[in-house]
This record gives sequence, structure tokens and C-alpha cells, in this order.
Amino acid sequence: MPKTNLIPPPESGPVYLRLAGVLEGMIRNQSLRPGDRVPSVRQFGRQQKVSVPTALNAYAALETRGLIEARPKSGYFVRRRQADAVRMPGWGRPAPRITDFSSLDPLDTLMSDHGDPAFVPLGAALPSPELLPGEKLARIMGAIARRIPGAGVSYDVMPGSEILRRELARRSLDWGCALQPDEFMVTNGCTEALALALRATCQPGDTVVVESPTYFGLSSVLRESRLKALPIPVDSETGIDLEMLATALRKTRVAACLLIPNFHNPTGFLMPEDRKKALMDLVGPRGIPIIEDDTYGDLQHQGTRPRCLKAFDRNGSVILCGSFSKTLAPGYRIGYISGGRWHAQLMRLKQISSLANATLPTLAVAEFLKHGGYDRHLRSLRQAYRSQMEHMREAVAASFPPGIGLSRPQGNLVLWCELPARVDSIELFQRARAAGISVAPGPLFAPDGGCRNFIRLNCGHPWSPLIERSVAVLGHLATELANKG
Ligand SMILES: Cc1ncc(COP(=O)(O)O)c(C=O)c1O
Repeated sequence: MPKTNLIPPPESGPVYLRLAGVLEGMIRNQSLRPGDRVPSVRQFGRQQKVSVPTALNAYAALETRGLIEARPKSGYFVRRRQADAVRMPGWGRPAPRITDFSSLDPLDTLMSDHGDPAFVPLGAALPSPELLPGEKLARIMGAIARRIPGAGVSYDVMPGSEILRRELARRSLDWGCALQPDEFMVTNGCTEALALALRATCQPGDTVVVESPTYFGLSSVLRESRLKALPIPVDSETGIDLEMLATALRKTRVAACLLIPNFHNPTGFLMPEDRKKALMDLVGPRGIPIIEDDTYGDLQHQGTRPRCLKAFDRNGSVILCGSFSKTLAPGYRIGYISGGRWHAQLMRLKQISSLANATLPTLAVAEFLKHGGYDRHLRSLRQAYRSQMEHMREAVAASFPPGIGLSRPQGNLVLWCELPARVDSIELFQRARAAGISVAPGPLFAPDGGCRNFIRLNCGHPWSPLIERSVAVLGHLATELANKG
């Protein structure tokens, strides 16, 4: 029976979660393997010098994460996970080809289905409201409105609330950046930040490098701005193919690169630091702006927050965009931009596009960051996303047809799934909708028209029997399509 070393006392947070975290580490680094018995609760409590209820809580947390299971009269064992045997998704690596977008649009349906309780929400990449601090934010906003009624109804003019910008500057140390408050501007979500960045750096008809696959919102903004995409394939673990990028930059006049290096949507990769540096060395000296979408940067499942590309920016060529849509409140529409060399121009563009931001939500988010326990909230949110994703991976591995590929995101809340080649994900999307289930079909993410046999699954909702049943239904539908004559 394995013995656990004495685990250091917690620096912060509940003891049982720290203990669960260390045992989880042992399971993930294979010190404890699937099928191994873990120490009894009493034994573990004695080893770690904690009470039996604390040890029990740690085990309960590991059970919820799907990592251990109790067997009647035998104790606790490391669960055998089918998902670990599933390969990573692959996809063809087509030569980069400039694309004018067609008008495939299950996108509108996807967004409207998300708010409709008739659908199980596995489509849009959005957290369940029950995981977000809605009540606390509302209380904070009410208190601010009472305290400063005049300011609350006034414009939050450019560059946006200084209180929020100071909090962003403080947090930018975690991103490896040390930005100043006056290097930020507050925006209406990350979407506005990205649109402004493209307007500041490109003219209609220009070509923009994007990852393939990529978040469909980027394709939409390119299309509406009459820009062309030059999709460069990504590796599911390390991000954009730098060799292909180098070749493409030699052959094509590129106006900007639009990238999601931290916990990419849809594939979940985290670009390693050496590759981030190499990317900056490749693109920075050419004077090409890099628009970095860091929407998911705060959502690592384990360890420390990854650094942004902007941390490696020596000449102001990275325009960093982000928001609090996946962490606090998508409906508040609070995002930000740090525009490097283009910052002054971005402020002028923001002025003519929306003049100001909504004051009360901005101040509420600023106050939450300052005194509301944002870091504590992030810790529990990351844990929830991680556990929901583990459940989703297991459920998919158990019920989808053989031969699938499944991403292993180190952060984020979406899972990218490659289905057998014969499965048309648009047809699967339609059949799933008819069964009351929303999923995101692969072609939405493929600026070069591929990913026909891929789907993306949202893991933003607490695991439930309804979600479990829905994944089984999806598996059944995918099997039917795979076997279709
Ligand atoms: C990569 C990425 N960027 C931006 C957004 C949109 O963010 P916001 O709601 O802040 O506009 C999303 C939403 O799914 C996203 O996945």
C-alpha cells in the first residue's frame, strides 16, 4: 500500500483541498496508478497529521474530480480512466491558403440556443451562472450606485475607470508584463478589443494570420471587416506551426497575426514559453503587429498562470486583449486592451465606435478585483472547470465510437473532439439539436474549410445526470453517423 509523504501545511485555502491537490499530483505523475489502492482515510489523516473529517473531505474532492473511487469493504482506489487511453486529436495540415469566408452560420443558432433552457448547453463556451459570483457582484454594484449615484449614471470615458486599470496593471505582473494603468483601455468585452485592434492595424482587403482551427468569433470579425485570413495549422500541444508561419511570412504580405497562445479555443493548447519567445523573434522584428487574445489566460487547471506573449514583447508590437467573460460575468461586457505602439490610435477608434463603457458594471468588477476575493474565486472556478472536463472526457471516451481523438487541455473550459472521418459534424449538430442538445460543429472553427468531423464541447456546467445522458445520446448519434452506409 503506497505511503504518502508528509504534505507541507497549506499556504492558503482549505487544508483538505491542498491535500487533495497533492494526491491528485501523485495520481497524475503516476506515483499512484489506475487501480492502485490509496491509503485508508484514517491512515491518510494520521500520515498528514489532520483530522479524519479533513482527510475524508480531501477524498470526497478527489471522488468528485473522478480520480478515485470507493469500493465497498475494500477502501479507496485510483480510478481507471478510459479517457487516458484516447489519443489526441489530429487533423490534416493543409498548406496555408488565403480564405474569403463563406457564410456558414450555425453560429447564430449556437448563441441563441445557449440561453434557451430547452437545450443542454454543450455548444457555446460559457460557464454556468451558478459558478459565477452574480449575487456578490450585484451587491457590490448596488452599494456603488447608492454611494456615488451621480458617477454611477455618468459616462465612463476613455480610457475607462482608473480603478479598474490600476487593478489590471497590478495583475499584469502575474502575466509577466508589469504594465502601467495608462497602458490599458477598458472595452466592451474582448470582442470589442479585438475588433478595435484589427481596425487600428489593417485596411480592408489585408491578410491576417490566424491559427487553424481558431475561435469562430475571430473569423466573424475578419469577415465583417473585409479582411482575409491566412490560417496556419496548430499542433494540439504546442500551438501555431512556426515553420509554416515563417514560410508564410516570407511569401505573403501579412498585416497582423491574431493568436490565442494561452489555452486556445477550441483545442486547449498552452504555447510553451520557448515557442512564445521564438514566435516573438520571428514576427517582432518584421514590425507586424500581434493581436493576442488572452481571454482564457487566468484559467489554468493546475500550477501557475502562464505568461502572455506580451511578456516577451520588446518593441510594443503586441496588442493584448482580454476580458472577464469566462471568469466573472459575460453579461457585464468588461474587457480590456493594452495596445503597445497602437494605443493612442485605439483610444481614438474606441471614442468613435462606442464613446464610453457602462460605468456600474466596470466599477463592480474593479471592486471585485480589489476586495472581492477574485483569486479565491478563480481557484474554485479552475477546479470546477477541471473536474467538469475530466467528467466530460470520461463520458465521451465511454460512449463515442472507437477511434476518436480528444484534447487534453491544461486550462480553459472546452473539449475538442475528432470523430471518425465519416461523421459530418454539421449533421451531428442538427440531429443533436433535434434531441435538445447544443454542440459546436468543427467547421465553425476552420477558416480553411476543414474540421468537418470535429466537434467542440462546452464543459462550463457542473456535471449532472442530464449532461451525462446527453453525452451518451451524442455518442449514439455519432456512432449512427459513423456507421451510415
Ligand atoms: C478566444 C475568445 N476570445 C474572445 C471571446 C469573446 O469574449 P467577450 O465575451 O469578452 O467578448 C471568446 C468567447 O468565447 C473567446 O473564446
